[in-house]
Amino acid sequence: MSNLTFGIIKPDAVGKGVHGTIIQRILDNGFRIRGMKLIHQTRKQAEGFYEVHAGKPFYDELTEFMSSGPCVVLALEKENAVPAWRNLMGATNPAEADEGTLRKEFASSIGENAVHGSDSNENAAIEISYFFSQLELV
Ligand code: CMP
Repeated sequence: MSNLTFGIIKPDAVGKGVHGTIIQRILDNGFRIRGMKLIHQTRKQAEGFYEVHAGKPFYDELTEFMSSGPCVVLALEKENAVPAWRNLMGATNPAEADEGTLRKEFASSIGENAVHGSDSNENAAIEISYFFSQLELV
């Protein structure tokens, strides 16, 4: 799965109406969209997805935010997809994100940071299967 990664366009970006722009940027950067859907997660689904962060001080805020509105979940294909998508996203904290990255342009804070991406091939496989069935991946 090293050519696949998982991404989320988070509720802040969808709420601002910039999800179309972000999807275009993904395509312009050479990713192939293998799966995509608009969902509104329940609190339980968001807690399950971010379980690795359970117990951290920002966990409640994070899971409340991720279940506060619709988001777009994506299965993305490209050579070295995990680092390629992380480079396009930029640093987790938008204050530290490079010019030209999605978080520099669209994120307002470390909590409301517009996009999520997997941090390893192993987690990409886990995260894709959390939201997509085989039938939903083209
Ligand atoms: P994401 O890539 O979705 O992975 C976990 C998320 O937790 C991260 O983006 C941030 O939005 C959020 N996060 C990480 N650190 C903090 C923090 N110190 N305060 C608030 N949210 C954080």
